[in-house]
Amino acid sequence: MTTRVTHEVEETRQAGADFAALLRPGDVVILRGDLGAGKTAFTQGVARGLGCMQRVTSPTFTLCQVYELPNSAIDALLHIDLYRIGHASELSDLGVDEALDRGGVAIVEWGDLAPTGFGEPAWSVTLLSGEEDDREITLEPRDSARLAAAQKWAQS
Ligand SMILES: Nc1ncnc2c1ncn2[C@@H]1O[C@H](COP(=O)(O)OP(=O)(O)O)[C@@H](O)[C@H]1O
Ligand SMILES: [Mg+2]
Repeated sequence: MTTRVTHEVEETRQAGADFAALLRPGDVVILRGDLGAGKTAFTQGVARGLGCMQRVTSPTFTLCQVYELPNSAIDALLHIDLYRIGHASELSDLGVDEALDRGGVAIVEWGDLAPTGFGEPAWSVTLLSGEEDDREITLEPRDSARLAAAQKWAQS
């Protein structure tokens, strides 16, 4: 099982902060879930977990927001939101591959809108709204090494 259920937004942020510990330089994370499911909240937690002191807001209009991480083995966090992307070529202008090569991590809301935009993602994370404020968060890792970490995450 790699699923955690949260009951309020701060719990979802904590789930993201715990998940941040599993990330390695160059990882791409695809976030799936409807509007309001908590993708941005989860990302705020990831940023916090990576030691980012800046306020993380939705990059819906800017497509990509870069957070430098001076206190992390990860070079930078790229927070991408493809909800309003017009054409896949807009992605190539963002310099994502270069940032990943430098040891950055990219977390992509609505990443399914550009499935070929990045290499095989290390993770996909699905957020599902349940009763009231419940959210079910499921990690799907690319490989078995990450699976063990995801199972631990689910239990913490
Ligand atoms: N358990 C929960 N986890 C995450 N968000 C929650 C939860 N319960 C309520 N919310 C609310 O749902 C909204 C999630 O918004 P956001 O993170 O921007 O979603 P998305 O990026 O998926 O569109 C916020 O208003 C948040 O306060
Ligand atoms: Mg969002």
